[in-house]
Amino acid sequence: MWEYVGDYVAIALAGVAAVLVLGLIGLLALAPLRVHLSLRPIVFGLSAALMVGIGALSFWSRWALLLYAVALPVIALGLWDIFQKKHAALRNFPVLGHFRYLLEMIRPEIRQYFIESDTEEKPFSREKRSLVYQRAKGDMDTLPFGTKENVYEGGYEWITHSIAAVEPPEEEPRVLVGNDQCSQPYSASLFNISAMSYGSLSKTAVLALSRAAKMGGFFHNTGEGGVSPYHLEGGGDLVWQIGTGYFGCRTPDGRFCPDQFRDQAAHPAVKMIELKLSQGAKPGHGGILPAAKVTKEIAAIRGIPMGQNILSPPAHTAFDTPIGLLEFIDQLRRLSGGKPVGFKLCVGHRSEFLSVVKAMLETEIMPDFIAVDGAEGGTGAAPHEFSSSVGMPLNMGLLLAQNGLTGAGLRGSARLIAAGRVVTGFHIVSKIALGADLCNSARGMMFAIGCIQALKCNTNHCPVGVATQNPGLYKALDPTDKAHRAANYHRATVQSVLGLLGAAGMSSPDEIAPSHICRSVTPSSVKSYAELYDFVEEGSLLEEPYPPSLDEIWRRSSPFQFPFSRSRSAS
Ligand SMILES: Cc1cc2nc3c(=O)[nH]c(=O)nc-3n(C[C@H](O)[C@H](O)[C@H](O)COP(=O)(O)O)c2cc1C
Ligand code: SF4
Repeated sequence: MWEYVGDYVAIALAGVAAVLVLGLIGLLALAPLRVHLSLRPIVFGLSAALMVGIGALSFWSRWALLLYAVALPVIALGLWDIFQKKHAALRNFPVLGHFRYLLEMIRPEIRQYFIESDTEEKPFSREKRSLVYQRAKGDMDTLPFGTKENVYEGGYEWITHSIAAVEPPEEEPRVLVGNDQCSQPYSASLFNISAMSYGSLSKTAVLALSRAAKMGGFFHNTGEGGVSPYHLEGGGDLVWQIGTGYFGCRTPDGRFCPDQFRDQAAHPAVKMIELKLSQGAKPGHGGILPAAKVTKEIAAIRGIPMGQNILSPPAHTAFDTPIGLLEFIDQLRRLSGGKPVGFKLCVGHRSEFLSVVKAMLETEIMPDFIAVDGAEGGTGAAPHEFSSSVGMPLNMGLLLAQNGLTGAGLRGSARLIAAGRVVTGFHIVSKIALGADLCNSARGMMFAIGCIQALKCNTNHCPVGVATQNPGLYKALDPTDKAHRAANYHRATVQSVLGLLGAAGMSSPDEIAPSHICRSVTPSSVKSYAELYDFVEEGSLLEEPYPPSLDEIWRRSSPFQFPFSRSRSAS
């Protein structure tokens, strides 16, 4: 009997192959006809033929019955597809229709692996991701054979090097954050981990980032979800972010609780406090943590119920005017024992930002830092329109912050932090040229700990355990190994900044000026940032005539009220 087994296996395989081939021929044949024909009758016919055919074969040999094991599930699937009512595509194209869903499911991976070019940014090019991976692994990060960029294409940017280049500085320059209203200034790295909550990230990811921050001497922003045990376990310096949900310092009805804030802010790991007004990927939307990612522990850390999406309201309840915002910052600084306090925003109405600057002049309360996030920034989950059509891109937002503070003569009292697709040394240098003192990265750090840009952060199905609360997935992320990677990535990126400084003949980031960064505007013209962007003079907003680029908006700004709440004119 055994000598026939091979034959029967061959018959079985032939059967399966026949079904697939028939299906494929059907698909190919129907495609040109733009699929005007339902496959239902074919499926009925094919099913009947298979049942009868296999039955007939079994008279010849009972091994043929094995073919039912293949045929019956396919037939059952076909019948299920025909009689279900949810998907018209499956009713018309039973069985075969699933290929469409399958292909749709793996479309991003197919694009990423086979179609996308190295320099196409969606949202990060393969080239940029590979650079982060190489730096994170400590692999060689040099490029063979020259750049892949089209250097004549509009938008191509570079730093102007010097004939009198110098050796790069050996030490990473640190940036002291904290003005004279703060009694515990913090010495920050040029490059840090941007806000990402435990909840949008897994516990192993948060732990890896916290350990990396400790190893590399840079800060780790908690995100608005509050300080979790994993932020503390790694021992890195923390920036505690407080959003509109006041997680970690909230009353049962969701308002700010000064007592809880004082206790948490006193933790020695908390080096600075960031009040989140908005973020680039979803400005004005507040936060969403999908219910699927809300574990018991996350609910407890945040002080909210389980089983529902966690929503942070779109605006703060602790203040509603520019002066109110600064008074709140002052309150937070006092409650924290004098730690640096700042705010993060993606610029919306320019007059609102300038109203806050006017409130600084009015109250003489200065934030220790302002973090400007660009519309190009990332998120765990956001509605499409908010991600793609709300908020100012980073360069313009940063320029407004730089000009607002400089024009008001206040630039020396607050540090500017920039975030939004900052992943390389050149990105950092170019943001410094626009006014930033230091930069943050969210997705760069995610790549360093293993993110493959599978774009499933909002589903709880992150395949590499970075952005999921599913233990089956996040346990695969080894926090010790990934901590080394994030620390390596940080170190190599900062070193690349130092290398660029040396090539430009500079020994400190303070020397970087707008004229040092150039951009191809057309294939035959080049402009530096100094020519492209309108920088205002120190103190120029303090008396008339105001700089033309800000004149109308500055006049409309008010420290007592956010202008847009009473005017609908263009901002
Ligand atoms: C997974 C994820 C979670 C985030 N969570 C927060 C958050 O809790 N608070 C916040 O202010 N920004 C949050 N952001 C935005 C980042 O902090 C940062 O501003 C933005 O992503 C900058 O862009 P980058 O990812 O290109 O560095 C998050 C971003 C990502 C990717
Ligand atoms: S791998 Fe995909 S799902 Fe996971 S964090 Fe990266 S983009 Fe999000």
